[in-house]
This record gives sequence, structure tokens and C-alpha cells, in this order.
Amino acid sequence: MVEWSNQYVLGVCSMDETHKEFVRILNNAIAAVNNSDFYEHCQEILHHTYNHFEGERLMMVDCGVSSRQDHIVEHNRVLAEMEHMFARPKEAKKYVMEGIPAWFHTHATTLDSELARAILEKQKT
Ligand SMILES: [Fe+2]
Ligand SMILES: [Fe+2]
Repeated sequence: MVEWSNQYVLGVCSMDETHKEFVRILNNAIAAVNNSDFYEHCQEILHHTYNHFEGERLMMVDCGVSSRQDHIVEHNRVLAEMEHMFARPKEAKKYVMEGIPAWFHTHATTLDSELARAILEKQKT
């Protein structure tokens, strides 16, 4: 399970809400790894992640954050990885329980945090 904590609060409401929802969906999937509907949970993660990343892409364009190219490449990499892993039931379990939580931690505290800082900076001007 991923525990929501203050380190994930970036100060941009829409990002924080999306990330909270992501953690909720991810935790539901983790709780369901041995259930017959696990695949549906994986699809929910994928669907949510598409929208999550598209929302951030629009924010990156809007605020012109310097890391946007790396950030978009990373989003595309993760989407491709999710599609690849979710098509493989055995690997998908470990990926949902360990891979995605580790990725989320790093991503939220680096690239997403940088994006949030750029948005908050722009709001000041
Ligand atoms: Fe994000
Ligand atoms: Fe991101």
C-alpha cells in the first residue's frame, strides 16, 4: 500500500487531487492482486494515468517549465511500461505492488514537484 504523506503535497490543487486519486486507485489494485477483477483495476490505473499525464502536459505547456521535454518522455515511458506489464498477469502483480509505488514516489518528488514549483512561481507574476 502507498501511504499518502505530506511529501506528496505539491501545493497545486489539481495535481494534488489527481495524485490522491491515483494513490487511491493504486491501493485498490494492490488490495485486489489475487482477485479475479485485478485486470480491471489495472485498466483503471492505465485510464487514470492517461488523463493524469495529459493534464500535466497541458500545465507544462502553459507554464513553460524547463524540464517539460524530459517529463513528457518519462510519462510516455511509463505509459508504455504499464501497457506492457498489464498484458502479463504474473509480472503485473509485482509491478503494481512494487514497481508503480516506487516510480510514483520518485516521480512525484522530482519531476512533478519541479512542475508544481514552476506553476506556483508563474502564479506569483
Ligand atoms: Fe503527476
Ligand atoms: Fe508527471
